[in-house]
Amino acid sequence: MSFLVDNPDVVRMLFTRDQIADKVQEIGAQVTADYAGQDLLVICVLRGAATFMADLVRAIDLPVEMDYMCVSSYGNGVASSGVVRIVKDLDCDIRGRHVLIAEDVIDSGLTLKYLIRNLESRSPASVEVAALLHKHREGAVESKYVGFTCPDEFVVGYGLDYAEKYRNLPYIGVLDPKVYEH
Ligand code: IMP
Ligand code: MG
Repeated sequence: MSFLVDNPDVVRMLFTRDQIADKVQEIGAQVTADYAGQDLLVICVLRGAATFMADLVRAIDLPVEMDYMCVSSYGNGVASSGVVRIVKDLDCDIRGRHVLIAEDVIDSGLTLKYLIRNLESRSPASVEVAALLHKHREGAVESKYVGFTCPDEFVVGYGLDYAEKYRNLPYIGVLDPKVYEH
């Protein structure tokens, strides 16, 4: 049995490694066109977006800078607590800069809503979001760049975790509810 291939905790494959790679190239090309000639700072929301961000910046054909922020809203559960805590703040000053937040998934959108408000208070030139997945729940924030629409299920892989596991799966799939319902 293999952890990476045919993981028994993944009940349904959603997006394959190749589909994700193609989509990231597509988003990268859009970002390249939209930010040509501008000073772009890509912010990674740790830890879920790290895999996406690493691939995305290599698909952006511009001189980008990167910074990292760690916020926590989930603990080890599967539903947003609504309480967002900055665990690690940015190292750089974003005043006057074009900021693109790389996010793994927009679910309730509570984390991102908080983050955007927080970053906007620092007077950047602009703040936009690139989300690999969007569950399109009512009231959730919009994102300028969206990879895939995600069903309203708990998904893992390609950076997305459950209790810090499954981040290294190269694809995205639905986690067996048996793993978290006990
Ligand atoms: P939100 O605040 O509900 O939009 O979700 C915030 C964070 O929860 C996301 O950035 C993810 O790290 C995590 N999250 C939400 N849905 C999922 C999921 O289906 N699988 C894994 N993590 C998720
Ligand atoms: Mg998470």
